[in-house]
Amino acid sequence: MNHMHIARKLISREGDVTPVVLEAMANTSDPRLKQVMTSLVSHLHQFVLEARLTEEEFEFGLRWIAALGHHTNESNNEVVLAADVIGVSTLIDLINNNGMQGETMSALLGPFYRGHAPHCVSGECIARSETPGAGLVFTGRVIGAQGYPVEGAVLDVWQASPVGLYENQDESQGDFNLRGKFTTDADGCFHFVSVKPAGYPVPTDGPVGDLLRAQQRAPMRPAHIHFIVYAPGHKTLVTQIFADSQDALLADVVFGAKQQIVGDFVRHDRPDVEFPGMKAPFYTCRYDFKLVAGTPSYPIPPISGKKA
Ligand SMILES: [Fe+2]
Repeated sequence: MNHMHIARKLISREGDVTPVVLEAMANTSDPRLKQVMTSLVSHLHQFVLEARLTEEEFEFGLRWIAALGHHTNESNNEVVLAADVIGVSTLIDLINNNGMQGETMSALLGPFYRGHAPHCVSGECIARSETPGAGLVFTGRVIGAQGYPVEGAVLDVWQASPVGLYENQDESQGDFNLRGKFTTDADGCFHFVSVKPAGYPVPTDGPVGDLLRAQQRAPMRPAHIHFIVYAPGHKTLVTQIFADSQDALLADVVFGAKQQIVGDFVRHDRPDVEFPGMKAPFYTCRYDFKLVAGTPSYPIPPISGKKA
């Protein structure tokens, strides 16, 4: 107990609290933890003082935070969703990935990334169970910021079905439906087949839904496909390619849409020998991902499996 902290004075007024608490944390040995917690506590106290929170509001807020945990399980991550709908995830994304070195713009990971998606061969279709909607052929290259092809890059792809649900949310979809990993060839090229994504509402049966209703906000996300592009020697890219109208992009409930990562989805009304096996109407999209040199990393999946 020789590190026990003794306050220099007892608290008697509002203005005493912040300095006393900061002093209590002053011996934090990890300098970054000390910096982050000092900033967090200072701003949190400032927020409480500015909003003049009542005891009922404080209790309500604590219950809301606890409910985020209660609504988090192997197939739903309400904590990630909460960070997404108040713009914090996009802010973190922009602080850490701003596209300033010529790399493709990133976008938030979202709550529905699952690890261990099956490795696929080039050209494979990721619709693993009966999936409605128009077919999609997605092709492109992974290149370095200077234009060289990145061979052996792994693209981890996932998307919602055209009914607006990820497989983890939907008992009618097979395990890992619309999820798969593809590896680039010597020219940096990749190629996969899927269905054209549709916009979807984020889950609204938990505390995040309560908040969105109270704020009269639509829970919609514009149609998109998620990508993690991983290659040795390069910074990992976490992004989404959008396939929706400008109005839908502007109304993104998690503020993830960016102009640079809107895909050009071309509609084909007749079968085309260039795309054998594709039934009309179908879509094609070509998008090249640019990486910058750096240390690869991988996000921790917010969920681990399908709805029980
Ligand atoms: Fe998504």
